[in-house]
Amino acid sequence: MELVITDNAAEAGVLAGRIMADHVRRGARAIGLATGSSPLGAYRELIRQYRDEGLSFAGVQAYLLDEYIGLPVGHPQSYRQFIRDEFTSHVDFDDASVHSPDGNATDIPAAAAEYERGIAKNGPVSVQILGIGANGHIGFNEPGSSLRSRTRVKTLTPKTRADNARFFEDDLSQVPTHVLTQGLGTISDADHLLMVATGSGKADAVAAAVEGPVSAFCPASILQMHPHVTVIVDPEAAAKLQAVEYYRFAVANKPSWQSF
Ligand code: F6R
Repeated sequence: MELVITDNAAEAGVLAGRIMADHVRRGARAIGLATGSSPLGAYRELIRQYRDEGLSFAGVQAYLLDEYIGLPVGHPQSYRQFIRDEFTSHVDFDDASVHSPDGNATDIPAAAAEYERGIAKNGPVSVQILGIGANGHIGFNEPGSSLRSRTRVKTLTPKTRADNARFFEDDLSQVPTHVLTQGLGTISDADHLLMVATGSGKADAVAAAVEGPVSAFCPASILQMHPHVTVIVDPEAAAKLQAVEYYRFAVANKPSWQSF
């Protein structure tokens, strides 16, 4: 696992975007996308590189981590709509190549299995960008999620629903209670996991994920079992880490031949 502490949140986003762009330039068949606020800086960098540097997503498939259950198609906070508004509609992504779990399916377990089949067919996911919840979730794998879980329905914790109410006019009653999410096993199948966390509200979760025990109670701790992980944090999100000096030293002395 590589831990990169940037000077600020804006730099974290740019670096994450550059790493994703490198995967696309190297011929990624599929990339994994997240929603929420953490990946937005990375998406802005990808859009910039599309406009200014000829980066192209033609022929690439995209898989979202998760989707709310029961939000109407086109709802601005459905993740399907969010990713189009914030990222994929601004670049040359073929809309049919941007996939998300079907949160309106009548048969949710069948929709989950179908999503897994799609990733298996079009993958592997070359790089998966991740945010982290204040309670250590990735995707919507809340504490207690099986470390080998696959795409399935989950019930959001009251903390996650409260955190996400900001996207629903601060009205908790509008935040769905259930979601379809890639499992921790599904996420772990990606070749490279790239986590972005900024702000003091993420400091405890980052420390638990990176330096705490591997535990279903901190789902993001599954990153410790993956062979290729980059965690990009700003100083506020790094504030509770113990080995900050070592992480900074390792990045400063990174061999010139080694990419992220
Ligand atoms: C969203 C997702 C979630 C978020 C997490 C952090 O697709 O999978 O795990 O990454 O809730 O959300 P933000 O980035 O809004 O703090």
